[in-house]
Amino acid sequence: MRKRGIILLSLMVILAVSLVAVGCASSGSQQAVSYRAEIAPGTLSVDEYAKYYPKQYDTFMKTSEMSNEGSKYGGSEEFDKLVQWPFLKEIFAGYGFAIEYNEDRGHNYTLEDVSKIKRINEKSIASCWTCKSANIEGIVEEMGDDYYGANFHDLKSKVTEGITCANCHDPQTMKLVITQPPLRDTLTRLGKDPDKLTTQELRTLTCAQCHVEYYFAGDKKVVTFPWDKGTTPDDILAYYEEKGFSDWKHAKAGTPEIKVQHPEFETFSGSTHAEAGLSCADCHMPYSMNGGEKISSHWWTSPLKTMNESCMTCHREGEEWLKERVFYTQDKVADTMATVGNVNVEAIEAIAAADAEGANKALLEEARALQRKAQFYVDWVGAENSMGFHNPQLTFDSLSKSLDYAYQAINKATEARTGVATPQFEVNAPKTNSETVKQMSKKS
Ligand code: HEC
Ligand code: HEC
Ligand code: HEC
Ligand code: HEC
Repeated sequence: MRKRGIILLSLMVILAVSLVAVGCASSGSQQAVSYRAEIAPGTLSVDEYAKYYPKQYDTFMKTSEMSNEGSKYGGSEEFDKLVQWPFLKEIFAGYGFAIEYNEDRGHNYTLEDVSKIKRINEKSIASCWTCKSANIEGIVEEMGDDYYGANFHDLKSKVTEGITCANCHDPQTMKLVITQPPLRDTLTRLGKDPDKLTTQELRTLTCAQCHVEYYFAGDKKVVTFPWDKGTTPDDILAYYEEKGFSDWKHAKAGTPEIKVQHPEFETFSGSTHAEAGLSCADCHMPYSMNGGEKISSHWWTSPLKTMNESCMTCHREGEEWLKERVFYTQDKVADTMATVGNVNVEAIEAIAAADAEGANKALLEEARALQRKAQFYVDWVGAENSMGFHNPQLTFDSLSKSLDYAYQAINKATEARTGVATPQFEVNAPKTNSETVKQMSKKS
């Protein structure tokens, strides 16, 4: 009796679920909304799109909201990262990021923020406009690669729009498109056609137009994504080492350093959620009801503000429980990063002190090469905006590598100063069980 009751109940649940599913699919609201208008090609202004897609526009405008509510390490208020993480001011000495480095905020502020930040000076280059505006595609079409190295201020009058619908949508069909030249160039260089991507790829790659690590390549300072060897921190460091690229020379250590920029896409790649098939949009643009219509939220913000829509579609454990799991990861990443950051500062000080004492030049260069790597890995974690959530395993791997290189740099600087090498214990550990068994049988 009880068994049959349960079966009946399960059948009812299945029926109810499929009804809901059919209900969603047959409402047709998404198809209809996708093709409401044919906006003229080249239209950039949000106001034009807002006439036809008012609901997406409503959520888009919420990116002006300023609040850290629900979030512990992110949020939209523009707090100073140099106060939050004192080690950053030391590792960026001699570079603009030691002057001003703020927490990111909503898309609606990009033009205001890039115009007022103290890192921009009279010599700044136009490249800095690249991920702030919908005008860039057209400007690059007009000026070619000369755009990137031009003076920042000379282009001010051409940059009339912030990030608009046109950064991600074809105005006529509203299909997702990759518009930003640096991502188009990079995908093409790596043999992937930017116009032949699946919808699920586009739900991540439209964000990867900007939320990525990049550098200014060559004399023309072209914004370039260093993905030729892959997108992990190891791959990207190997790429920079091969090119001998550096952003600036550290004021104290004299090391040619790399500055990492917001590598959200690269960090997310390979994570539990990426491997489970999720895209950026699944958490950051969840479906939400707006005036009886189900639309993709265009309020890009911390998903901890919208957990019901962003997470609870898959996770059944309860919002508060899940949020505590996020904080569990983030707290541990933050604590570890603070420690690793401080050891990085000690490495810089050790090199500077050894240099001041006239230590062995060749050994000091070796110490600098190690410090450069240590700094790259800790900066990767600091510049990524999820405090480790996007990929906890990769984040701890980066912090561990940073700590190891930082201590090696300190030891090398000491050797350069005293002539005494620190003892090293370097063995090739078998690690896996099968390798261990193999080694054991070799010995016996
Ligand atoms: C940063 C990229 C980006 C920007 C900027 C952007 N969108 Fe979208 N938009 C998306 C993504 C991703 C989807 C989901 C598409 C899918 O899954 O097929 C989407 C979906 C849509 C849809 C389809 C219906 C829906 O809600 O899923 C419409 C209509 C739309 N956006 C309108 C707009 C308008 C209007 C603007 C400007 C006010 C805008 N978008 C700005 C990325 C963007
Ligand atoms: C054209 C470049 C560009 C594209 C495309 C873009 N972003 Fe952004 N995004 C930015 C910039 C720049 C900021 C920081 C703005 C500031 O601080 O003034 C930002 C900030 C954010 C923030 C932080 C908001 C806050 O309140 O702190 C989130 C979340 C975000 N973006 C998610 C996304 C997602 C998801 C996508 C893809 C659907 C995307 N972005 C596409 C450039 C872009
Ligand atoms: C599984 C859900 C999930 C996916 C998928 C995801 N994110 Fe996030 N993202 C988060 C969470 C959670 C945070 C941490 C927010 C916080 O600390 O308040 C975050 C933080 C961010 C932030 C900083 C937000 C802030 O408040 O400052 C940005 C920017 C961002 N993500 C961009 C991306 C991009 C780009 C992708 C795709 C490459 C992506 N995210 C994929 C859940 C996700
Ligand atoms: C489309 C489904 C889906 C969505 C949406 C989703 N997740 Fe997940 N999440 C998974 C899967 C699958 C796993 C791996 C299996 C598991 O642990 O259940 C996972 C694992 C996790 C884990 C444990 C693993 C880790 O990396 O720490 C946390 C924490 C988590 N998700 C948080 C979130 C948060 C927060 C959001 C919303 C911002 C979210 N998830 C949105 C599917 C999803």
